[in-house]
Amino acid sequence: MQIIGTVSEMQRLADSFRIQGKKIGVVLTMGYLHAGHVSLIGTARKVSDVVITTIFVNPTQFGPGEDFERYPRDFERDKTLASEAGTDILFCPQRDEMYAPNFATYVEIEDVSKILEGKFRPTHFRGVTTVVAKLLNITKPHVAVFGQKDAQQAFLIRKMATDLNFDVSIVVAPIIREPDGLALSSRNVYLNPDERQRATSLYKSLKRAEMLIGKGERSAEKLHNEIKKILLGVNPTLVDYIACVHPDNFKEVETLTPPTVLVALAVRFGSTRLIDNMIMNVA
Ligand code: PAJ
Repeated sequence: MQIIGTVSEMQRLADSFRIQGKKIGVVLTMGYLHAGHVSLIGTARKVSDVVITTIFVNPTQFGPGEDFERYPRDFERDKTLASEAGTDILFCPQRDEMYAPNFATYVEIEDVSKILEGKFRPTHFRGVTTVVAKLLNITKPHVAVFGQKDAQQAFLIRKMATDLNFDVSIVVAPIIREPDGLALSSRNVYLNPDERQRATSLYKSLKRAEMLIGKGERSAEKLHNEIKKILLGVNPTLVDYIACVHPDNFKEVETLTPPTVLVALAVRFGSTRLIDNMIMNVA
């Protein structure tokens, strides 16, 4: 595995792969890699000749008072995991390499970047879409793999790629979970043992909603109340939102209609904010 730190070197290398006719797959991350990231690298490996993994803790997607400074970092461990998962090139630029002091250009998506996660983190998605646009221009992939774990992020990246004619195919890979259902996240390390235990309520509440939909429930309000009951049962610090949205446009629905609904949650335990979601069949 080759490690690259500069934009110019990464772009030259990407050009050379393209000239050789190699298909480039990319996985963008903020590091502190876990089995979720590893599965995305595995997916990229299957559909491309060269796999580029990027590690960059992107300051522009963290709001004031969020966890940018304390975001977990372990470069040595990340190198091992990325390499074992099948990464050929690890691109890990420093902050100044990505953001010059006079940086002034942002990619912002209207509407969907302002709801759900966007309501609680107003500048978050503008930072995400901006850095993803930059990283795609730097790594020049044919395929970019993202996780369903961040469903709204994946939706917005796909929208950006479509609206701005990015010549890349966006693949969204399934959520990897702990045996007890907790979705893997770099932020799970913030949870103390008691919070870690209570955090399983997110998955439990989603499974309960799935079961009720299977039994014929079609009211978003009723599902919302059932989910809330389970979440409040473990005394979270705050339930930011529970939403039933249409997977194709992220608009909230009142009555579920076939074929699917996406149920998304954000819950806080202490200062740790967890998100989860599930796409459920509506017969
Ligand atoms: P990060 O949180 O490191 O996640 C990198 C990628 O891994 C994202 O596509 C995310 O959805 C995926 N991922 C995280 N947990 C997962 C899980 N349990 N199962 C499957 N996939 C999972 O998301 C970001 O970084 C950043 O916003 C980024 C896109 C890199 C832009 O800075």
